[in-house]
Amino acid sequence: MKTLLIVSHPYPDQSQAVRSLQQAAEPLPNLLVRNLESLYGHDTRAIDVAAEQAAHDNVDRVVYLFPIHWFNLTPMLKAYLNQVWTYGWAFGPEGKALQGKEMQVVVTAGASAHTYSAEGLIQSRIQEILTPMKASALYVGMHYAEPLAFYEAMGAQGDRLAGFRDALRARLSAPLSPSLVA
Ligand SMILES: Cc1cc2nc3c(=O)[nH]c(=O)nc-3n(C[C@H](O)[C@H](O)[C@H](O)COP(=O)(O)O)c2cc1C
Repeated sequence: MKTLLIVSHPYPDQSQAVRSLQQAAEPLPNLLVRNLESLYGHDTRAIDVAAEQAAHDNVDRVVYLFPIHWFNLTPMLKAYLNQVWTYGWAFGPEGKALQGKEMQVVVTAGASAHTYSAEGLIQSRIQEILTPMKASALYVGMHYAEPLAFYEAMGAQGDRLAGFRDALRARLSAPLSPSLVA
């Protein structure tokens, strides 16, 4: 099984959690990592669409790893979706490149799990915050896996960060869920 890991963080120099999670994933077998800011900086027009599309060849699972900033995707990840998921490739009559692949979203968040609950300050679960990713996945025929969210991630270190890393490695090492296996 082959996995493509798309990573985005708008402030790479300040990142601790996302950086550590990327490093934890990198040694896993059959995993291709594409860090958008490492490849393209913050230039939304610099994204190499052909290279990003080619990176999906023979991939079964696509993982999107990013921090939650103002309850949203990062700018480069949004630009990536706009430009890479094209008509005729991701959707439209001939656009079947993503069909049948699993989408696994992995996010870090500064707020607590309670904040991300119906009773919490924002009265929204992480599943609701990530609705654009779910809708995009289903629109192009991907299977949407339950998101993996790491709360209170700002400044996490030691055992807590190690727990995040272990949870990510376990999720990426798990087989596709049975309903997703052809
Ligand atoms: C500009 C900005 C906006 C943020 N907005 C949110 C937010 O909406 N919700 C949240 O839970 N955390 C928010 N945070 C906290 C980050 O999600 C958290 O610091 C990050 O996920 C930790 O990962 P990192 O060390 O890789 O940056 C925000 C942080 C920044 C810098």
